[in-house]
Amino acid sequence: MNFRRSHKRNFSKESAPAETVTLRMERMAQGGDALTHLQDGRVCFVSGALTGELAEVVLSQNKKDFAKGFAKRILEPSEFRTEPQCPFYGKCGGCSMEHATFEFQLEAYRKSIEELFRRFAKTELPASWKIHSGKPYGYRNRARLVRIGKGWGFRETQSHNVIPVAQCKVLTPALNKALAANTFPNVPELSVFDNGSGKISYYYKGMSPAEFEKCAMNSVQIGDAKISMDSACFFQSNLEVLPELVETVKKAAGTGEYLIDLFSGVGFFATVLKKNFKKIVTVEREGKALFHANKNVPEAHNVSSPAEDWLAQNDASGADVLIVDPPRTGLPSSALEAIAKANPKKWIYISCDPSTLARDFRLLSENFGYKILNAEGFAFYPQTPHFEMFLELKRV
Ligand SMILES: C[S@@+](CC[C@H](N)C(=O)[O-])C[C@H]1O[C@@H](n2cnc3c(N)ncnc32)[C@H](O)[C@@H]1O
Repeated sequence: MNFRRSHKRNFSKESAPAETVTLRMERMAQGGDALTHLQDGRVCFVSGALTGELAEVVLSQNKKDFAKGFAKRILEPSEFRTEPQCPFYGKCGGCSMEHATFEFQLEAYRKSIEELFRRFAKTELPASWKIHSGKPYGYRNRARLVRIGKGWGFRETQSHNVIPVAQCKVLTPALNKALAANTFPNVPELSVFDNGSGKISYYYKGMSPAEFEKCAMNSVQIGDAKISMDSACFFQSNLEVLPELVETVKKAAGTGEYLIDLFSGVGFFATVLKKNFKKIVTVEREGKALFHANKNVPEAHNVSSPAEDWLAQNDASGADVLIVDPPRTGLPSSALEAIAKANPKKWIYISCDPSTLARDFRLLSENFGYKILNAEGFAFYPQTPHFEMFLELKRV
């Protein structure tokens, strides 16, 4: 079986000359590559291959402790291998798991994250932790588009090249319809957002305040909460599965006096929890989100600041519930230490990168005695290796 659409993209510049070896894949690693071992015992990460497959692998990175490569030819395919539906698979860089069935992807998230926590955090995730999932395609409600000719495209992985994309399988039908109609302004880059209830908004740099008000402003209905946002600020990108994360957070948070929502964006979690707490503080670095936080949770003290700075100046120890939802980089170490020392009654950690979550949890467990009370996963980004996690932590 020829592996037609290549995975060379990540490695092409680094191999001179590239060695080809035949390898049997052992398991999936967190991040979407298959993991196996070379004859000399080194771990080898192989893109484009699946557990159990025998593949001809081009080695493109040879380090002392590990190697990386891509599957050039699949000699014995997995029963979970499937034909990628996107013509830009392997190029655009978005959906690098498209060669696996969705069923396989969900199992790969589970096993690779369990292994990550086992190895790096010396911790077992709670047995049969739940993974919430929705549609495998047509789920993504936001995108950053780049102008190419008269149409739009996505930037190719690790390069400035733009791939023209008339349609994208993971985008919502409404966003694909808008792409096809192409009534967007002719600007170099555009952030588009589908609120799931019929309004597509967009933002580009240099927009006039009047156009921003008309075209970038939007709102999202989650249960009984209408959340104000705009296309320039952060908002979650899978509106189908997001209500399940909200329910999980609500259940874990319960009710109390004092809620602290750090890395709060437009005050997202504070908004859905506001009826359950008397005193609320939200902290978000991005100044533009403050407008929405003040609209969404006017009863809260909404702060525009890096969370680590706020924590250095304020005592979080009285919090009944403290939520963190940092970017992929995870928690800044000073923020992690300050929260661990403050020891809120309940600490909810939401993460869009299991590797930095495992790194942070390791520090919390080794240095402060934290344990995982509950873990749940959210397949927010099918066809990609990205994954959302919820952890409820407790110092014991
Ligand atoms: C994953 S988003 C979560 C936002 C929000 N909780 C939500 O669900 O919509 C992470 C947010 O953290 C913000 N951020 C990044 N670094 C930060 C920092 N050091 N302090 C506070 N906020 C930060 C980003 O601007 C972004 O809004």
